[in-house]
Amino acid sequence: MKIPALDLRKQIAPLRGELDSAIKEVIDQASFILGEYVERFEQHVCEYCRVKYALGVSNGTDALSLSLLALGIKSGDGVICPAFTYYATAGAPASIGAVPVFADIDQDTYNISVESMEKILAKKNKVKVKAVIPVHLYGQCADMDGIMQLAAKYKLKVVEDAAQAFGAEFQGKKAGTIGDCGGVSFYPGKNLGAFGDAGAILTNNKTLAEKLLIWRNQGNENKYYHSVLGRNNRLDAIQAVVLDVKLRYLDEWNRKRQEVARYYNEKLAGLALKTPFVPGYTTHIYHQYTLRTSKSNKKFMDYLQGKGIDSRVFYPVPLHLQKCFKYLGYKRGDFPEAEKAAKQAFTLPIYPDLTREEQDYIIQSVREGVY
Ligand SMILES: Cc1ncc(COP(=O)(O)O)c(C=O)c1O
Repeated sequence: MKIPALDLRKQIAPLRGELDSAIKEVIDQASFILGEYVERFEQHVCEYCRVKYALGVSNGTDALSLSLLALGIKSGDGVICPAFTYYATAGAPASIGAVPVFADIDQDTYNISVESMEKILAKKNKVKVKAVIPVHLYGQCADMDGIMQLAAKYKLKVVEDAAQAFGAEFQGKKAGTIGDCGGVSFYPGKNLGAFGDAGAILTNNKTLAEKLLIWRNQGNENKYYHSVLGRNNRLDAIQAVVLDVKLRYLDEWNRKRQEVARYYNEKLAGLALKTPFVPGYTTHIYHQYTLRTSKSNKKFMDYLQGKGIDSRVFYPVPLHLQKCFKYLGYKRGDFPEAEKAAKQAFTLPIYPDLTREEQDYIIQSVREGVY
């Protein structure tokens, strides 16, 4: 059996009629960038997330860097990021000249450790830390209570990286709506995925939303009157209508992912593998279903790949050890939990259309492969 990490064709096929006619309408109207289709999608995102403002942007990475710029983060300012996440979490602040300041993760949730964050903030750092980007990794929220308390104490801006967690909830609030703002990615493989690059920024802060509108569109306050050094971070209408169609199905898809995860948890219990830990404060929308072996994740991934199962390692190198961040001066051993997770965590295929037969095959293969 061959089981891909994700099969988007299965997701798209039943929606094909709706998607085709939505795209056709954009072409017929020849209204391709921002405009009414983007505004309609933004309105639906506001309703879905119960947030006052949602701004469609070009991708999740730009959602983060644009948010930092609009919050006044400048070149040389420190921005705390977890050491174990996708590159873009730290790439975004670095791209605007800010300095990523890494923190370790919690060993159970893989999300930023509030304790590690506090240790960093309590000591004298080379840079003045002005913001934090907590990541809701794999689809469950970080400990936002602890993070918001530290942010208040140290006067930090909080930009949530909700790229993998659109729809997850922290104590009844949607991921991305708790800090000053939240960045979302609609990369095609995300739980809500566009047909190309796309993202959004969520915020309840009117002043920030007004700033972001200008920053997102070349600093245009009035057409051809540029008040700030803005960027081209606009969302296009074809992505907006695709996302608008898919948004109607998102909760159903996330429920199916949760059911797939529940079945994995049940059938893989008692093995020498750690199944996901979900704290009471968050829901999990299982963008990824992540297991942990005390041996080598790479070996286990290779074994599963050999069985035709597209297991992945997210992420094999923690950010403080990535070549691109060498200039920051970190070394091996600085963030033990992040380094351990990079050696031990691997994923199993999870998506709404994964069949029971496929899942049973994966489970059987995992059981046979545990050593
Ligand atoms: C945690 C995290 N942050 C940021 C991003 C960046 O999103 P995008 O690919 O839309 O720029 C991603 C996307 O993979 C992500 O997983």
